[in-house]
Amino acid sequence: MINFHILTLFPEMVMQGLHTSILGRAAERGDISIEAVNIRDYTTNKHGRVDDYTYGGGAGMLMQAQPVYDAYRAVIDHVSQNENKNKSARVIYLTPQGKTFCQEMAQDLAKEEELIFLCGHYEGIDERVLEEIVTDEVSIGDYVLTGGELPAMVMVDAIARLVPGVLHNDESAQTESFGNGLLEYPQYSRPEIWHDKQVPQVLLSGDHAKVDAWRLEQSLLRTRERRPDLYEKYREKHPETT
Ligand code: ADE
Repeated sequence: MINFHILTLFPEMVMQGLHTSILGRAAERGDISIEAVNIRDYTTNKHGRVDDYTYGGGAGMLMQAQPVYDAYRAVIDHVSQNENKNKSARVIYLTPQGKTFCQEMAQDLAKEEELIFLCGHYEGIDERVLEEIVTDEVSIGDYVLTGGELPAMVMVDAIARLVPGVLHNDESAQTESFGNGLLEYPQYSRPEIWHDKQVPQVLLSGDHAKVDAWRLEQSLLRTRERRPDLYEKYREKHPETT
């Protein structure tokens, strides 16, 4: 069970995206919970403003420290109250300047009970509040998006599917096969012939050992061709690989 808390100016965007399909059902069953906290609800500005010009000049607006900090405090106070103890939680700030997200990071974060995601918008967030509350800065890749919402959704999805109960057993088996560091082998369903293309014969043989061997071979071929970096890593761990 993980409680995800997402601090954002666009709560509908996050809730719509994350309450669909597998994660929506997992939340209904109570295997995870996902809450979006609207940072604007915490501003003390009487016009509801959460952003202002940057000191030193330059284009664009910056999210101010006060509403971000108060939204964060509200989550922490609520969590501590429910659990009847002073709980700390990792706070992940989504930014292109962070460490690049990967499966290993998802596995590490999946061990937590509470995760707080902070989504910036405009030109970013006042550095002083980041210094006080953020424990992890994470990027989802070397490109720039308009805000942290999509990256937060990407991370929640990747982490939530590792929580026990979220995926069915047959689906989690597939996790293992990427967990081993290789790309997936190709897969086929009915009919046996489609557009003159025949399903590989070995998959119809019923010989499970042969099927497994073929799949591993395909995974290796694919990984070598498409992701030589992953292939080299795999070879270091499995010296028997040619
Ligand atoms: N915010 C804007 N771009 C981002 C990225 N690539 N990763 C994480 N947060 C972001």
